[in-house]
Amino acid sequence: MYEQVSHALLNDILDDLSHQVVCADLRHFYTRLGANFYAIHSLFSRLYGQRPDFKAQLTQLTERLARAYIARPEVLRVIDMEREENYNWFMSQEWVGMAFYLDGFAGDLKNLLQRLPYLQELGINMIHIMPILRCPDNASDGGYAVSDFRNLDPRVGNVEDIRLLSEAMRARGMLLTLDVVVNHTSNEHEWAQKAQAGNKTYQNFYYTFPNRDIPDMFEETLLEVFPETAPGNFTWNPKMSQWVMTVFNHYQWDLNYSNPSVFIEMLDIILFWANQGADILRLDAVAFLWKKIGTRSQNEREAHLILQLMKDCCQVVAPGTLFIAEAIVAPSEIVKYFGEDAIIAKECEIAYNATFMALLWDAVATKNAKLLNRGIKNLPTKLDRATWLNYIRCHDDIGLGFDDADIRACDYDPYAHRHFLIDWFTGNFKDSPARGRTFGFNHKTGDARIAGALASLAGLETALEANDEIAIKITIDLILMLHGMILSFGGIPLIWYGDEVGTLNDNSFLSDENKAGDMRWIHRPHLDWQRLAQRHESGSVEQRLFYGLKRMIMVRKNTPAFADFNNRELIDLINPHLFVFLRSHPTALSSSVLVVANFDATPQYLDLEEISANARGIFRYGQIQDLISGESPALFNQRIVIPPYHFYWLSNQFNNH
Ligand code: GLC
Ligand code: GLC
Repeated sequence: MYEQVSHALLNDILDDLSHQVVCADLRHFYTRLGANFYAIHSLFSRLYGQRPDFKAQLTQLTERLARAYIARPEVLRVIDMEREENYNWFMSQEWVGMAFYLDGFAGDLKNLLQRLPYLQELGINMIHIMPILRCPDNASDGGYAVSDFRNLDPRVGNVEDIRLLSEAMRARGMLLTLDVVVNHTSNEHEWAQKAQAGNKTYQNFYYTFPNRDIPDMFEETLLEVFPETAPGNFTWNPKMSQWVMTVFNHYQWDLNYSNPSVFIEMLDIILFWANQGADILRLDAVAFLWKKIGTRSQNEREAHLILQLMKDCCQVVAPGTLFIAEAIVAPSEIVKYFGEDAIIAKECEIAYNATFMALLWDAVATKNAKLLNRGIKNLPTKLDRATWLNYIRCHDDIGLGFDDADIRACDYDPYAHRHFLIDWFTGNFKDSPARGRTFGFNHKTGDARIAGALASLAGLETALEANDEIAIKITIDLILMLHGMILSFGGIPLIWYGDEVGTLNDNSFLSDENKAGDMRWIHRPHLDWQRLAQRHESGSVEQRLFYGLKRMIMVRKNTPAFADFNNRELIDLINPHLFVFLRSHPTALSSSVLVVANFDATPQYLDLEEISANARGIFRYGQIQDLISGESPALFNQRIVIPPYHFYWLSNQFNNH
């Protein structure tokens, strides 16, 4: 949008800039800057307009954008243009992701190059490497306490290795996702070190307080993320004689985004990694970016303004780079990280679908889809050009962040129901085969979350120990069904490494004093490649899981109805054990797919008379088949029978892939 005040200012800034940034071809930069500058100016003044140095800061910001654009490699600029043209590219069903810790999956970056064929064998074409930047050895929070945002942990490689990796991946048509930990730094980061040495400029990069007055006010409303290991949200720093805000661990210092220098530095880091070839950047803990006394300091309006500003700036330099919002918050809050009141994403194009993840686990424990159906029905519709990251497990715990009203509507008491789930997944409930652990137990509130590997939570560990073939088969079906859900829901499925072969809880972290206090390490395994080799052994658990998943991935990629164009219709049913939704093909309705999942341990039937006219439509064109097996499900008098822990992708467009 053209607006005089911001444009006059832009003229000034560009005048200034042209003396500094010489002779580069800035054509595309200027067009994009022109398009976004009104928004950048508005957001920057909403956040920092009161400051006397506002104009100097905005000039500084624009100069950084120009420099980052000049540094952007030509090959990435070409991709930017391609993605501008083909703007829906990331909504396609062709993307299937996997996330992993580099040391646990491949050791280092060089070795990862050797592992790309393994990923491709399964059908993975997008990877998220868990954070690999430099961190203190003993206080790293799994890479989320960064001490140097531009250098890697030397044990895994260096920035040049990242460039080589991204090149190799591009040649294979794969996408690279890296983290930018935007909310905090390690206490050993240079800024924090300078702050501790008494430098006021850098003390102002963080929230520091000489006494408890302000911290005490904050504590009245702040929650605790790690109540067991890091109670409270402030840490006394004797070197500075100040309290520092540390919402996560005591060694993770929250950055002060009310200081524009912090914004500019962090944006520069985002652009730096975009320029090394990252296709997607995962922005960590974005709900926490703005702190306000008297609030929980999560999901504040300003946190959204900061993200919009980051997006607007990134579009000027690297429009092909996408953001993932990691905001594990209430369902109604998550969608806001796509940006409100817009059609295309104004903040992050992709967001973790924590709601769906937690609801799937609810359905596993209760063996019914009551809360799952209700929660999905109430999931706010998202923007057209934005997509979910659907996952079953990740490196973090499972939080039971359902909407209390939804829990009540299913006739459960919220407190009792959450406790049932904790008991179920920790194996304390009668007949539960799960082997999870509690995480983040809070004595003050009674809240807890769950840690554990997918396979162990689903019961595979118990079944294998008992050598119970029936139980093994049930858990394999269940694990595949959960993957079937994230592969067909709409969005990019993100598989957690090791889950493709049923990797169990890994207790080895207990002997590492830097990890023993954090139960999440139980599900962050070091993969055993000998065990992975058993995926070729017919009838092995590894083979059944790996090939089951591989087949599903292949079918997903060939099923356009699975692309994410808000083309999902949840089907309301009387039978509480079934979770059923229709994915309609954007143009050819006859190619729609009906997804039917049975979360119960006994067979269930779907009454075709009960489903919507749209869903019934697919049965009109001839015999329906399950896209995965190619078989037609048992049908008796308009009732389809679904075996226990089984799911179908029903369509009449079966093609023999
Ligand atoms: C994010 C990460 C989590 C980490 C936290 C603090 O939520 O997913 O692993 O502990 O941020 O950085
Ligand atoms: C909370 C936070 C999330 C973080 C997680 C770590 O759920 O909201 O950002 O990843 O804790 O356990």
